[in-house]
Amino acid sequence: MKGYRSPYPVPGVIWASLPIPAILIDADARIVEVNPTGEAFLNASTRSLMGQPAWDRLLIDAPMEEALGRARANRAPLFINDVDVTTGERPPVQCNLQIAPMHDNPAIVMLLIHPREISDRLGRSAQVKSAAKSAIGMAEMLAHEIKNPLAGISGAAQLIGMSLGPEDRELADLIVEETRRIVKLLEQVEQFGNLRPPERRPVNIHDALDRARRSAMVGFAAKMTMVEDYDPSLPSTYADPDQLMQVFLNLIKNAAEAAGPQGGTIRLHTFYDLALRLRRKDGKGRQLALQIEISDDGPGLPPDIAANVFEPFVSGRENGTGLGLALVSKIISDHEGWIAVDSVPGRTVFRVSLPVALKTDGAISPE
Ligand SMILES: Nc1ncnc2c1ncn2[C@@H]1O[C@H](COP(=O)(O)OP(=O)(O)OP(=O)(O)O)[C@@H](O)[C@H]1O
Ligand SMILES: [Mg+2]
Repeated sequence: MKGYRSPYPVPGVIWASLPIPAILIDADARIVEVNPTGEAFLNASTRSLMGQPAWDRLLIDAPMEEALGRARANRAPLFINDVDVTTGERPPVQCNLQIAPMHDNPAIVMLLIHPREISDRLGRSAQVKSAAKSAIGMAEMLAHEIKNPLAGISGAAQLIGMSLGPEDRELADLIVEETRRIVKLLEQVEQFGNLRPPERRPVNIHDALDRARRSAMVGFAAKMTMVEDYDPSLPSTYADPDQLMQVFLNLIKNAAEAAGPQGGTIRLHTFYDLALRLRRKDGKGRQLALQIEISDDGPGLPPDIAANVFEPFVSGRENGTGLGLALVSKIISDHEGWIAVDSVPGRTVFRVSLPVALKTDGAISPE
């Protein structure tokens, strides 16, 4: 709006440094200030935004007028979680919002927008690791204990079957068949527990992706169309190449299984993004700049299990063991990376974020 003068000059350095979108809004719901991250989020300059009605530029699926009013009246901050925010030009992003009236002028309210993907990832991966550990430990023990008597049951059923007529033999065969299925499941559980520590070295992500893609195309993903969208300039990561391939293979397999017999499209996308940083237990941070997205156009995660898909034994498929994504999550954790998923019907994206291999990686033996 021409001639609009900011009633609230903000200390520039703090404002410019805020790493999340921040917007000041006046009592008439007009935009007063936008920080540089907010400019990028809204895809417009502060100059063009100042004085504009805030809710014309920022479409938020929540009663914002009411929330801002409440924050002003109570002179207290207010949080709104899990709302869709869009600028109108792009698909909605799920965000957590923080609203805070300015100390010295409560008519002006600061709106902070946290896109949810990153904060979610930070919580979820650690959680998965501990949940996976306890469940897997117990399952492994059970698997070991159950396998021996199962072999006995199956052997006995086979022996009985030999002395029976055809009708009854069918029942004996059923016992043999079902025990075989259980043994297979138990073996998968044991294999999960036996995952060796990664043998890490500098690895080109595209090599691992390509191996997974080729193996998938001649097997379970034969009906799928694969689209590769790689940034060939990506530097190496520091990983166990076989385990990395296993991660990609599991993700491609899930996408192919979700698509069903009619097939669909899987997109493999690699790119560089500096926004995510992982804090390790020792307090040191490491940037996770390498991004690998495996997306499909299938039906999306079943809503009832969407929040828990990385946990072991959570499956939405008839014969699924629910270990695929738990294994993926464990491997990624062992590699000090993150995994996140964003899913709506027609578009499911699994994003793996990994560190760039440093010169010192491999030069000194990893801990
Ligand atoms: N790309 C996807 N699209 C839709 N649903 C998915 C996708 N990936 C995973 N899922 C859902 O998440 C569930 C858990 O996946 P996970 O790989 O952990 O186990 P699973 O595929 O059921 O069994 P397993 O991988 O052990 O054979 C799946 O059963 C499926 O319902
Ligand atoms: Mg799976």
